[in-house]
Amino acid sequence: MKFSMIFMFSSTLLFLVNSSANAQATSPPAPILPPTPSPAPAPAPISPYVNLTDLLSVAGPFHTFLNYLESTKVIDTFQNQANNTEQGITIFVPKDTAFSSLKKPSLSNLTQDQLKQLILFHALPRYYSLADFKNLSESSPVSTFAGSGQFALNFTDESGTVHLDSGWSKTKVSSSVHSTDPVAIYQVDKVLLPEAIFGTDIPPSSAPAPAPASEISPAADSPSSESTAGHSPGIAPPSSGHRIINSGVWIQLIFAVSGVLVLFL
Ligand SMILES: *[C@@H]1O[C@H](CO)[C@@H](O)[C@H](O)[C@H]1NC(C)=O
Ligand SMILES: *[C@@H]1O[C@H](CO)[C@@H](O)[C@H](O)[C@H]1NC(C)=O
Ligand SMILES: *[C@@H]1O[C@H](CO)[C@@H](O)[C@H](O)[C@H]1NC(C)=O
Ligand SMILES: *[C@@H]1O[C@H](CO)[C@@H](O)[C@H](O)[C@H]1NC(C)=O
Ligand SMILES: *[C@@H]1O[C@H](CO)[C@@H](O)[C@H](O)[C@H]1NC(C)=O
Repeated sequence: MKFSMIFMFSSTLLFLVNSSANAQATSPPAPILPPTPSPAPAPAPISPYVNLTDLLSVAGPFHTFLNYLESTKVIDTFQNQANNTEQGITIFVPKDTAFSSLKKPSLSNLTQDQLKQLILFHALPRYYSLADFKNLSESSPVSTFAGSGQFALNFTDESGTVHLDSGWSKTKVSSSVHSTDPVAIYQVDKVLLPEAIFGTDIPPSSAPAPAPASEISPAADSPSSESTAGHSPGIAPPSSGHRIINSGVWIQLIFAVSGVLVLFL
């Protein structure tokens, strides 16, 4: 009676092991089925056309810059250059917050011509990847779409970060929005103000106060995160590890017992 119970048990085990093995053996052919041919390959664009309006309306938010681009019609100039894959274009786009935090020289009483020049000042009539700026810093004042001289920008590369200087605006590229050969769009932290519009009588900036605060905080964070990381792993894992070992031992025992029984039958 007892013996037949054990026999039933072990044969049931064998059946289970076999059926699961069979299930595994039969399942692989399914993924080999021919991949669904229905989604037609996307029609490859003949030229790499980038719609600047589209791009700027979803990124950022760059709504203020985009509104100026459209009201001054500079968008047509830039889009035309973007379509020109020979040279391409590099645009520096300030975020909405850069415009809203601009207090001292206001844009409000600029003429329409000055506003147009200001927007043109935010682009270079050539495509530059971020790596190209290392080179560009050597050719110091770089002419913008607005012109040369007091419409030129200075670039410096400080350990991989691109810094821009218009005299009035000292800022940096804070992120790359788009950078594929004919079109580069980089986010900058400030509105670029040219000396040609605002003059060379630049008030000395007393701005860089917030910088040291942000330099201190990461250093202060790291020791605390290390100490919390050191505490937590000491408590939880051993119990779960113990359980895993126990269940593993039980499975091995069951298989060993049923294996021995099968040999004897
Ligand atoms: C570019 O995108 C804008 C906004 O989506 C759209 O109104 C415009 O027609 C597009 N221009 C072209 C030439 O496709
Ligand atoms: C740029 O190219 C697109 C697509 O070829 C075209 O629809 C658009 O009118 C062009 N825009 C300009 C300003 O050349
Ligand atoms: C803008 O207005 C201020 C005074 O409100 C004036 O000092 C300045 O010259 C004006 N700028 C231009 C470009 O008209
Ligand atoms: C970088 O500068 C060197 C010399 O200044 C020049 O020969 C080279 O063509 C430049 N490279 C690019 C990508 O502009
Ligand atoms: C840009 O660089 C040139 C040459 O190094 C220098 O003469 C000029 O003053 C700089 N302009 C600004 C706005 O920093």
